[in-house]
Amino acid sequence: MKLAENKATLSFSNGSPSVDLPVYGGSIGPDVIDIRKLYAQTGMFTYDPGFLSTASCQSAITYIDGDKGELLYRGYPIEQLATQCDYLDTCYLLLKGDLPKEKVRKDFHKLVINHSMVNEQMHFFMRGFRRDAHPMAVLTGLVGALSAFYHDSTDINNPEHRDVAAIRLIAKMPTLVAMAYKYGVGQPYMYPRNDLSYAGNFLRMMFGTPCEEYVVSPVLERALDRIFILHADHEQNASTSTVRLCGSSGTNPFAAIAAGVACLWGPAHGGANEACLNMLEDIQRQGGVAKVGQFMEQVKDKNSGVKLMGFGHRVYKNYDPRAKLMQETCNEVLAELGLENDPLFKLAKELERIALEDDYFVQRKLYPNVDFYSGIVQRAIGIPVNLFTGVFTLARTVGWIAQLNEMISDAEYKIGRPRQLYVGANARNVKPVSER
Ligand code: ACO
Repeated sequence: MKLAENKATLSFSNGSPSVDLPVYGGSIGPDVIDIRKLYAQTGMFTYDPGFLSTASCQSAITYIDGDKGELLYRGYPIEQLATQCDYLDTCYLLLKGDLPKEKVRKDFHKLVINHSMVNEQMHFFMRGFRRDAHPMAVLTGLVGALSAFYHDSTDINNPEHRDVAAIRLIAKMPTLVAMAYKYGVGQPYMYPRNDLSYAGNFLRMMFGTPCEEYVVSPVLERALDRIFILHADHEQNASTSTVRLCGSSGTNPFAAIAAGVACLWGPAHGGANEACLNMLEDIQRQGGVAKVGQFMEQVKDKNSGVKLMGFGHRVYKNYDPRAKLMQETCNEVLAELGLENDPLFKLAKELERIALEDDYFVQRKLYPNVDFYSGIVQRAIGIPVNLFTGVFTLARTVGWIAQLNEMISDAEYKIGRPRQLYVGANARNVKPVSER
């Protein structure tokens, strides 16, 4: 970051002396005011619940322009990555800073594919869960448990450990997600196969059985790979910030990523694709497209507590570029599977059409986000609704690791420790029980 020529001056109406605060510029995007010495200078904190105006770190990984609807990974537009690269290229890019040259690319693909098996003991760990456990509950446990299996890559301050943990996590996540699924449906786990692509391998581990050969459909493989690319990173969102905060204590990479998994589960974040599909199915049950108007009235009624899931975003105040790419994939997958007339897809398009014309959504700049269409694609592929967030977890793992490693390598990194505005009781004495 570069010190800008201008500085910010904070003045107070009560006559306290004003303070000058340095301003820094990044490569693109808003400048930041450096408030690190504010408390020492004024005895005051800033107040920003939800981090609406706070840059928690400097980062060179992902850039979002929410007004333009632009998303860049290491400077490359998401549209180009989604159409010209595959997920493992994207992983390399996020981790290392640029796209791999041919030989490095081959080696990286091989390295990841060759680490997809998990310690056999994980199967026994899995058996401790109820069969009807939510896959995100299982994944939170499984990812955290990796630290109990791979002791040689748990020192977050050792760059080699971080590299090994990164490859292990990226490589093993599809195996764990597929295991969570197979366990729930009572089918045998499918071991990974090193001759398949990352996405193809996941499809086989999900839908193959030992009874017959599983043939990977190139269209579904490409669709899944695109879902992975689109979800790979998204700068300082809730789960990524959770991973950074958790990792800032020096805990091991597996534990930090498990914290991210737990955060992603929530319906305002990664759980939105599941919530979105449940919403579409509910509307469909109540009468489908004919009921869209009535549903929209509920969404606009503040007292109803109903939201149009898959719409709105903290950063995008324009069309989420990932939603456009996802809609394209949705068309391809439904055509491949002969589901062009899928009622939920029609319903989603109708909801989008109405919302984009409705004043409520226009005024609040609410547009479809990536989750609006990703659920329909996943459902068409055969992924059960309660595993959607698990697929998101798989894809986002690389972003979490890249961000965690960037934080650890940053000379300015400190343990994350926000302050507060205390509004509780003043100091008081404990009374004996009889006098309370
Ligand atoms: N449906 C209806 N109204 C909405 C929606 C929605 N999906 N999203 C926001 N609004 C309204 C809010 O009620 C608020 O209205 P008000 O100004 O009259 O009070 C206004 O739009 C601004 O919304 P906020 O909640 O302040 O926006 P915020 O940035 O805090 O929240 C969030 C963003 C959580 C994503 C929100 O839009 C939402 O809940 N969307 C639905 C869930 C969803 O799709 N999440 C996925 C996010 S993308 C991802 O994680 C991959």
